[in-house]
Amino acid sequence: MKEVNSRSGGSFLVCTLAVQLVLCWSEVYTSDITKRCGLVSESKSERTILERLEPLAHKNFSVVTKGKTDSYTYTFQLCGEAAGFAEAGVVQVDNSNPSKPTIIGRFNATRAFGGSDWVMLIYEKGDAYDGHCSKEKRKAIVMISCDSKKVMGELEVVLEDRDRDHDCFYLFELDSSAVCPVVPSQLSTGSIIVIIGLCLLAVYLIGGFLYQRLIVGAKGMEQFPNYAFWVEVGNLTADGCDFVCRSRNREEAPAYRGVAAEPLEDEPEERDDHLLPM
Ligand SMILES: *[C@@H]1O[C@H](CO)[C@@H](O)[C@H](O)[C@H]1NC(C)=O
Ligand SMILES: *[C@@H]1O[C@H](CO)[C@@H](O)[C@H](O)[C@H]1NC(C)=O
Repeated sequence: MKEVNSRSGGSFLVCTLAVQLVLCWSEVYTSDITKRCGLVSESKSERTILERLEPLAHKNFSVVTKGKTDSYTYTFQLCGEAAGFAEAGVVQVDNSNPSKPTIIGRFNATRAFGGSDWVMLIYEKGDAYDGHCSKEKRKAIVMISCDSKKVMGELEVVLEDRDRDHDCFYLFELDSSAVCPVVPSQLSTGSIIVIIGLCLLAVYLIGGFLYQRLIVGAKGMEQFPNYAFWVEVGNLTADGCDFVCRSRNREEAPAYRGVAAEPLEDEPEERDDHLLPM
């Protein structure tokens, strides 16, 4: 008896764990590439926003822009060396002079803001402008928006705003499902109840089976827990159906019921007998 209890307890624990695993499925995915990003001002909320971007890690996002005379390649990487350049979060490479990249923003000077379906990532402390913008340091803003169909979309250049005295920036955009609102749980209360019910049924069947086999020493169909009880239930249900649904031979019913009543009488005893082990 004790053994069966501990077995049932064990299976129940396994079931509970399984349910929790399903529930926590989305949270199981963890990695910590974003810890490489240095925040301009360390804050827990910005860290949390950065963590939402984890699925974008380990990838160079590139885009080429072509003007009349010039062509540039911009590369962005999440908290990692963009295009392999040390410290660079966003880098601009002049395609006519690829050996001299311009760092637009450094990932050790990051800021991050976010809403339900977007994250704005800012890399500051880029290389200083030569003439524009009071020779300030360049800054990259990457606007990441939710697109549930794309894990990683294409990087696009929106604009370079440098014709002013201060606070110039390069603006990029990127679509990703990483910033989409998290669906709290894929499972409704109803399906959780069904899962728990199935778990309990499994515990009942397995525990009862083990008890019947190992302790009572039953063989064949007898190994089913409370076999006789369920057979009885089946028979009574059949009788009930028969009684309710059959339209003819009403006169014969009393005699018929008399027969059916017999097992009913010693049934409580029998039922107790079989319930006891559970
Ligand atoms: C990004 O590109 C650079 C240069 O091509 C490469 O060295 C680096 O490994 C790439 N990073 C990733 C994560 O693919
Ligand atoms: C980022 O790295 C550069 C170069 O190593 C350093 O000068 C700068 O202070 C760092 N910035 C932050 C915010 O850690």
